[in-house]
Amino acid sequence: MNRREDQVFVWPVYTRIIHWLIAFSFTLAFIFSIEENLLNLHVAVGIIFGLMLVYRIIWGFVGPQYARFSTLKLSLAKLKFYFVEKVQNRWREIPAGHNPASSWYTLIVLSGGSVISITGLLLYGIQEGKGYLGFLNHDYYMYMDTLFNFHIYSAYILLIWVIIHISGVLLEQFYHKTNMVFAMVTGYKKAKGEDSKTGKYKSGLTYVFLIISALVFFVSTDGRNNPFVATIYKQHDYKHESFTYYTECGACHKPYPPFILPQSSWERIRGDLKNHFGEEISPTMKKGENRISLNDQTVIFNYLKKHSADKNTKEVSVKVMKSLGGARGRKSITKIRYWKDTHADIPQHVFKSKKVKRKANCFVCHKNFEKGMLEDIDIKIPK
Ligand code: HEC
Ligand code: HEC
Repeated sequence: MNRREDQVFVWPVYTRIIHWLIAFSFTLAFIFSIEENLLNLHVAVGIIFGLMLVYRIIWGFVGPQYARFSTLKLSLAKLKFYFVEKVQNRWREIPAGHNPASSWYTLIVLSGGSVISITGLLLYGIQEGKGYLGFLNHDYYMYMDTLFNFHIYSAYILLIWVIIHISGVLLEQFYHKTNMVFAMVTGYKKAKGEDSKTGKYKSGLTYVFLIISALVFFVSTDGRNNPFVATIYKQHDYKHESFTYYTECGACHKPYPPFILPQSSWERIRGDLKNHFGEEISPTMKKGENRISLNDQTVIFNYLKKHSADKNTKEVSVKVMKSLGGARGRKSITKIRYWKDTHADIPQHVFKSKKVKRKANCFVCHKNFEKGMLEDIDIKIPK
């Protein structure tokens, strides 16, 4: 490495790796939040982000000198002086390590990032019923919206800080010419101070941490049968749970899971069987036609009402109930605002396509829906 006279070795390779892993995992988490069915990847990079923050915090106590919290320059007077000098003297000399602005930024990333990671983990457990915190869904489902807002707004706020940080770095690079961009690549910065050193055991610590993180990453991207992403919900076998519902109503369509509609909706559907979405169903019809005896109807609707949305803490149930407010349930979930909102981006012609045919044909886009599963990673619009 050709080293110039005026340069100092400030960022050992481990500090740089952590810096870039934090930056890339944050960026990727944003990208993977665009589509619901990328949730697994979003969570995997989110876990890396969180682990790197933990590591950065440890590094702040035991790491090489310029990474330590004790070397951060947090006095407000110094921060002000930094900006004043920046404006007044283009060729001012800067110290090795963090300047006052980047010292504050470090704290912002660590605290903001912690909020994002913790709310993300809680949300994954409480809203999705997944991961190590999935068990929290039952008791804390009412907080899913609040957590969601905390999670995304803290991410947006940190994004604004990231943009400010990048602007500052580019200014240092191209206006003040302190080589700040490449300092995080090569480790060398144009500054005054001593070279940084890392001991062997610290390098070892980093290797162990990086290997653990890589393992966690691969395990969590790998699918659904590991504790990082496993769901708390079991697949239903409706044939087994209510044979009458499965066979009688199953004559025309796969079983809709009872938890997608409230009791009041199931009552309306029962009351309206004579005009069931254009089909006539009644106890007086001949065998072989759409006949369901009154007795079977009671069995079926008792079963459906017992497991309806108002008795469930799954995301879809909670959100259907919330979206209804105090209003009576509709006959079709596709008429409920929550459903309309979640499917607003899908063009109408998709629902009329040969493979989908109807909005209520949930089963073709949501794999395993007939087993009571509504996993984000299972969403796929047939082409
Ligand atoms: C004779 C055929 C037939 C039978 C039997 C039948 N259904 Fe349906 N069902 C339909 C049709 C057709 C639709 C309309 C699908 C659509 O909207 O495109 C429908 C839609 C539904 C929906 C609406 C889903 C939604 O939210 O939009 C529910 C719920 C439902 N049926 C429940 C039942 C239940 C419960 C039974 C048994 C008591 C039953 N169905 C029996 C034909 C039938
Ligand atoms: C044409 C395919 C298609 C059909 C049919 C369809 N969906 Fe969806 N659904 C999607 C897509 C795509 C998304 C994800 C939208 C997004 O990424 O914002 C989604 C999202 C959802 C969500 C939100 C998932 C979450 O975790 O936020 C629920 C709940 C849902 N669908 C239920 C249903 C039900 C119930 C039906 C049937 C009445 C249905 N969907 C019919 C494609 C479909």
